[in-house]
Formats: sequence, C-alpha cells, structure tokens
Amino acid sequence: MGLAFQGSAHCLRVGLVTLRSSRYNQRTMTAELQPTFYIREIPVYGDLILSPMAGFSDKPFRAICRELGSAMSYTEFVSADGLSHNNHRSWKYFEFAEEERPIACQLFDHDIDRLVVQSQRVVERLHPDTIDINMGCSVPKISQRGAGAGLLRTPEKIAELFNRLSKTLPVPVTGKIRLGWDDQSRNYLEVAHILEDNGASAIAVHGRTKVQAYHGEADWRPIAEIKAAVKIPVIGNGDVRSVADIDRIKAQTGCDAVMIGRAAIGNPWIFQRKDFADVTFAERTALIRQHLAAMVEYYGPHTGIVLFRKHVVKYIKGVPYATDVRLALLTCTTADEFIDLFSQWEERYERDDYQLSAEDAELFAQFESCVAAPAA
Ligand SMILES: Cc1cc2nc3c(=O)[nH]c(=O)nc-3n(C[C@H](O)[C@H](O)[C@H](O)COP(=O)(O)O)c2cc1C
Repeated sequence: MGLAFQGSAHCLRVGLVTLRSSRYNQRTMTAELQPTFYIREIPVYGDLILSPMAGFSDKPFRAICRELGSAMSYTEFVSADGLSHNNHRSWKYFEFAEEERPIACQLFDHDIDRLVVQSQRVVERLHPDTIDINMGCSVPKISQRGAGAGLLRTPEKIAELFNRLSKTLPVPVTGKIRLGWDDQSRNYLEVAHILEDNGASAIAVHGRTKVQAYHGEADWRPIAEIKAAVKIPVIGNGDVRSVADIDRIKAQTGCDAVMIGRAAIGNPWIFQRKDFADVTFAERTALIRQHLAAMVEYYGPHTGIVLFRKHVVKYIKGVPYATDVRLALLTCTTADEFIDLFSQWEERYERDDYQLSAEDAELFAQFESCVAAPAA
C-alpha cells in the first residue's frame, strides 16, 4: 500500500516536471506561431479556454487543462468583499503558477467602488495578465444583491465600473456575461456595446439568461450577434460538450475562442480536441493519478483527497468495473488507500471484459448526484 502511494508521489514529481517542461516546450513552439487573438496587448495562443468554475477550476485543475491545450486560465470568481477583509481563502483562490500566463483573476461584487479598489490591489500584489468581472453568476444570494448576473440589470453601473477599471488598471479588463436577466430583458447587445465603449478588452458570453440558470439549451445566436457588433474578442460559452460542438459554435458564431466548463470536468482532453469516448483507459488512469497527486500536494493529504472526489467521479463516469473505485471514494481518507484500491480497479479492468454491470451503472448515477450542483 505504502509503495503504491510512494509510486504516485514520485509520479507527481515526475508529472509536474513533465508538465512544466511540456508547457515550456509548448510555449517555445507557440512563440514562433501567430497568436490566435489578443486581449489588448496580451497574445492568446489557441481557441479553447477552461471556464472559471468555483470549486473546480483551481490551480491543480487549471494546470492539467493548460497542459492539454487550454489557451489561458481564469481563476474561480472571488468576492471583492472577501478580498477587502483580507480573507485568506479569498486571496488563495487567486494563486496561480507563472506558467499559467495569460491568467485572468475574476472578481464579483455589487459595490463598484469596492470592485475598483480590490481589482487594483489584486493587480499590485499578484500581477495577473487581466482582470475579469463576473456578470454571469445566477446564484440568488449573489445576483439578487446586484452582483454577478445582477449587474446586467444596471447597465449604467457596468459602464461606470468598466470606465474606471480601464482607466486605472495597467492591465486589460474583460467581462463575462449572460444574455440578460430574463427572457424579457435580454440586453446582451446593449451590455456588449457598453463594455466595448468603456474600455473592456474582451467579452465572454454564456448563452443563457440569469433566470434560466442552467436549464434549457444555451442559445448561441446572441453570441454571433455580439461578435458582429463589437471589435473586441468574443469568447463563446455554453453547452459545448464535444469536439463537434466546438466546431459548431465556432461556425455559428464566428467567436474568437470557445470557453468550456462542465464538459472539461472528467474530460480535460477536450482541450486536445478529444471526446470522452476517445480517451484510452491508460490515459485516463494516468491522469487520475497525476491529478490526485497534484491535489494532495496543493491542498495537503486530507483536503486534497476530499476535493478530488468530485473530479474522480467524472473521470470514471461510464467506465466499467468501478466498484473498487467506489469503495475508494466512500472509504478512503488518504491518497495511499485510494491509490491502492484504484490499482486493484485498474488490474480488474485489464483482466476482464468491459461489460458495465447494472450495479456499476447504478453506482455511477449515485456518484453523479454527489457532485456539487452548479454554483454560478
Ligand atoms: C460548478 C460551476 C461553477 C462555476 N463558477 C463560475 C465562476 O466562478 N465564474 C464564472 O464566471 N462562471 C462560473 N460558472 C459558469 C461557467 O463558467 C460557464 O459559464 C457555464 O458552466 C456554462 O458553460 P458550460 O456549459 O461549458 O459548463 C460555473 C459553472 C459551474 C458548473
């Protein structure tokens, strides 16, 4: 058991070295290529970007997505109020590796004075490449107070906010929006113009209203309308689940880049333009080990494994013979134990044929329901 984990810890070190060097190589290579687009003067190489996702797009997961091809990083959204109180956790969400650049630090608040002051502090302390303002969060306790998607109801505040941010910050300022508050107030074009006119350097658009939250299908037509209406880069987002979807949203909207959220959880290979079904078992298990080791290194042994559970259920979704992994998920409190049981699962998979049992199918459904509901 001990050996198994030592192996994985070693794997972590090797994994990170590989990761860094592969990213370095990627940068060396891309340095000779043309950027796909610019966020003001910041070149972005590539057209697929991991969405900011509270509880998921942390430093370890962003590193994995970048290694596989995500073109830039966005942090999870952070409350300007929390930053102003020097809340340790708020500042921790903004930790990033130098190799992640370009990196956007994303803030939210209903108080625009506080957003301006805290954005300045973030830039002075951490020197991110861009500051991004969240105007898409639909969670009632945030949006009802006028933050997140709540800002879409007060376009005049958005104008003042971006005017002040773009005049005072040395780095580009970007915004991530939804289509509007509800179907009766889809003011995305007005907001897009306001953003551009007040100095925003890019807009990411989730093709749903606040009221829709995550229901229904994302509507990509407004993304095309925004792209036709503004000169700054437009990043399309919402329900991109497959390589075919990437091609479709690009063709239908002409967007400069595509932001992928939920579909990247359990399938970060989507940034390599690979669908879930095209990832081999060996690739999957190697990445699970690498990701777990990175989580343990970043968060410590206990929190690391607990936070990893919601990723692993997605990595193994639909993969046969996951009973041992279920055991690991439900009983393991250390990475050692997890790796031990995980190895048994790998062996079983290699030995047996790949029929999904009814029991496993039911368990996967249970795992699914364990994963946190969308937060923003
Ligand atoms: C669990 C979760 C957390 C999210 N957190 C954020 C966030 O912190 N900031 C943000 O701008 N959007 C956040 N979002 C929204 C996503 O960035 C994205 O706009 C949305 O999920 C639609 O894209 P998708 O269909 O590719 O998932 C979150 C979404 C989910 C599911």
